[in-house]
Amino acid sequence: MSFKTIIEPFRIHSVAPIRMTTPEQRAGFIADAGYNVFSLRSDDVLIDLLTDSGTGAMSRNQWAAIQHGDESYAGSPSWEIFRDAVQNLFPFKHVIPTHQGRAAEKILFTALGGKGKFIPNNTHFDTTRANVEYSGAEAVDFVIAEGKDAANLHPFKGNMDVQALEDFIQKVGVANIPVVMMTITNNSGGGQPVSLANLHAVSDLCKKYGLPLFLDACRFAENAWFIREREAGQGDRDVIDIVREIASLADGMTMSAKKDPLGNIGGWLALNDDELAGVCRNLLILTEGFPTYGGLAGRDLEALAVGLTEIVSHDYLKYRIQSTAYLGNALLAGGIPVVQPIGGHAVYIDAKALLPHIPALQYPGQALAVELYKVGGIRGCEIGTVMFGKKPDGTEVPATMELVRLAIPRRTYTQSHIDYVIEVCLAVKANSEKLTGYRITKEPPALRHFTAIFEPIT
Ligand code: F0G
Repeated sequence: MSFKTIIEPFRIHSVAPIRMTTPEQRAGFIADAGYNVFSLRSDDVLIDLLTDSGTGAMSRNQWAAIQHGDESYAGSPSWEIFRDAVQNLFPFKHVIPTHQGRAAEKILFTALGGKGKFIPNNTHFDTTRANVEYSGAEAVDFVIAEGKDAANLHPFKGNMDVQALEDFIQKVGVANIPVVMMTITNNSGGGQPVSLANLHAVSDLCKKYGLPLFLDACRFAENAWFIREREAGQGDRDVIDIVREIASLADGMTMSAKKDPLGNIGGWLALNDDELAGVCRNLLILTEGFPTYGGLAGRDLEALAVGLTEIVSHDYLKYRIQSTAYLGNALLAGGIPVVQPIGGHAVYIDAKALLPHIPALQYPGQALAVELYKVGGIRGCEIGTVMFGKKPDGTEVPATMELVRLAIPRRTYTQSHIDYVIEVCLAVKANSEKLTGYRITKEPPALRHFTAIFEPIT
């Protein structure tokens, strides 16, 4: 017999309070924040779906591991435990610990980027793109066409368009492409997975041209679970085996340990090339730390090592993917357009479809994110023209999609929290015709979504 209720495969062990607020209070808080949800105090948020990054709950075994941390500057046993846990899943020769994923990106693209270089990816995440561009190189995205169509039901919308990638390699030349990246799952494209077949195809293409392939593997376990669920011939496999096969197709990886490794902080760069590893370690020492702790404390390394064993649990992944789909499917059933199929770590509301009367350059996603906060205290995040519209040359171009991401922190909210989110979203939809757009009154030169100040257009 199977039951439809998805139970969380854990009991609550330690709790953090949620402070209740009224719509009137929230209208004041968001105005004070310049209508930017990143500028809100988290105490003023009821359900925080801003990100799944570092916001999850650690297990009691992870907290116990924190006590086991050894804070020696060099050669700490905590480092060995961490390195072994990484290599157990991703057997790359060199593991370089960093404080976050973006630090790994900064090091990698400082070593490999630069003017005249191109970095292909299925879709660059915003920090990845920013680090590529900061180095002077150009970030180019080759996700399949289905991946840009919010309603398309393709099971692997994170896949790379292999033909387009090959055409590009031939056009700009192998010498100008220091590395090819694959983001699993494809966060900016809706948390959509990449198939094992596509990873093989990209890996074969890279080998054909002698190009290194690196994974941006933040949500590798969720991606592997989708492969197990959706790809022919994969259904009987252990997720660990799928992960190891994925690793075997690449030459290295960048990682944010704040996602699937179940940490509150952390990241790493891992790779096989000895010479490149040497350059990267020197950069690590400049800005992160000594190679056996990088940007992390020994206790963090220990917690991550435990997280890496917990994340590949089938019970956990089944709950994780089903509970995200529970939110997405309920929104769909209520007539709210969302990116389909539902992704792994988040539900992405299609603000362009929900608010067709707000033009892209008046930021429909921002309007929706602000309204979700005002109505229900829910903090999501615009992934659209605010995030991607500003080009390095200063021009502004509408993004391909106008999304609001409701990212689900791992092991943090219960089904009743999510039922509340569903109710709030339906209430916002009922009033959607009355929403208006926003203009930006102040913005920084890069990554403007974090700090821009907005004003409602009335
Ligand atoms: N790559 C991807 C695909 C990401 O989703 C992130 C972070 C990073 C790299 C950078 O990692 O934050 O540890 O420096 N994504 C978070 C998010 C911030 O909300 O999606 P980081």
